[in-house]
Amino acid sequence: MKTIVSGIQPTGSINVGTYLGSIRNFVALQDAMPEHHFYIFIADMHAITVQRDRLELRKTIKELAAIYLACGLNPERVSLFIQSEVIAHAQMAHLLECHAYIGELERMTQFKEKARAQESGVSVGLFTYPVLMAGDILLYDAEYVPVGDDQKQHLELTRDIAIRMNNRYGECLRVPKPLFPKIGARIMSLTEPTKKMSKSDTNVKSKIHLLDDDAIIRKRIMSAVTDSEGVVRFDKDNKPGISNLMAIYGAVTNLEYEAIENAFKDADYQTFKKAVADALVGEIAPIKARYKAIVESGQVDEILDEGAEQARRLAQKKIAKLYHKVGLGRKRK
Ligand code: AMP
Ligand code: TRP
Repeated sequence: MKTIVSGIQPTGSINVGTYLGSIRNFVALQDAMPEHHFYIFIADMHAITVQRDRLELRKTIKELAAIYLACGLNPERVSLFIQSEVIAHAQMAHLLECHAYIGELERMTQFKEKARAQESGVSVGLFTYPVLMAGDILLYDAEYVPVGDDQKQHLELTRDIAIRMNNRYGECLRVPKPLFPKIGARIMSLTEPTKKMSKSDTNVKSKIHLLDDDAIIRKRIMSAVTDSEGVVRFDKDNKPGISNLMAIYGAVTNLEYEAIENAFKDADYQTFKKAVADALVGEIAPIKARYKAIVESGQVDEILDEGAEQARRLAQKKIAKLYHKVGLGRKRK
């Protein structure tokens, strides 16, 4: 069985960037690739690489599980689970840490950015975060890993570690490929469109959360930063604001940039923004409704239990094989 693996950190509310860059793609792939089984998880072990409020974290874990389901992940196609409930992730992380180099981790741009943002100490866990992530992927022999643009370097590292171990021990790991959405792989801040839309941004106007009211969604889009040219044209360098709105619109409607430019050839920014807001509200409304129904149904725990069980089955086998390859423990008959 071929597999597809991805995860999201349970940190803060899910915003439109994370949705368009990852979850929406998971749902599309789940329907488009019926021969693959999906392992999609809540990366709670990643979340504690920086200091968090424990109760807030616990709440966000459950919220993210319900969001995954509300967005359309189907538990029959997807093993949906919490990373920390599958112990093999921790075992794999150590194993891979012994095969990753300090120098290559020091080059990770996300580590450098996050380390700079820490007010007190930088944890060792933040440094080794990309290795934990490599383990998440390699444990399940993922063929593809759907992620946003910002995870490109982490995927390259994952591939490098897999190739290194295959060379050292003989073929034991599948070398995975990233899958980026065609449009929406990097949704930018609505207030500073040269920066990524980010959960950690303290400016509430910079982003839209999946569970925001329709009125808020409209307000954020209508007040998004644009430029003074007044032409709906894709030009990331010179028109980052409009290009970002085009990315949001394109991701939701599945229209290419050229088609959007043609459709809004004679439109002013107000008209275009209104169309973006309508499209986004239309996309998110059913998710919000399903979210409420899923939380009320009380089914989430059962689905997570089942998902963890399925994930454990595969991951434990993989760990046993790898331990053996590396020479850990006793040789069994
Ligand atoms: P995170 O929320 O940082 O755990 O990211 C979860 C997934 O969403 C990863 O695949 C990211 O690459 C993707 N992602 C996060 N923010 C954005 C964004 N602004 N635009 C596109 N994808 C994003
Ligand atoms: N590091 C990813 C992020 O912040 C989340 C993540 C953790 C992940 N493990 C993963 C994504 C494995 C894909 C596969 O966005």
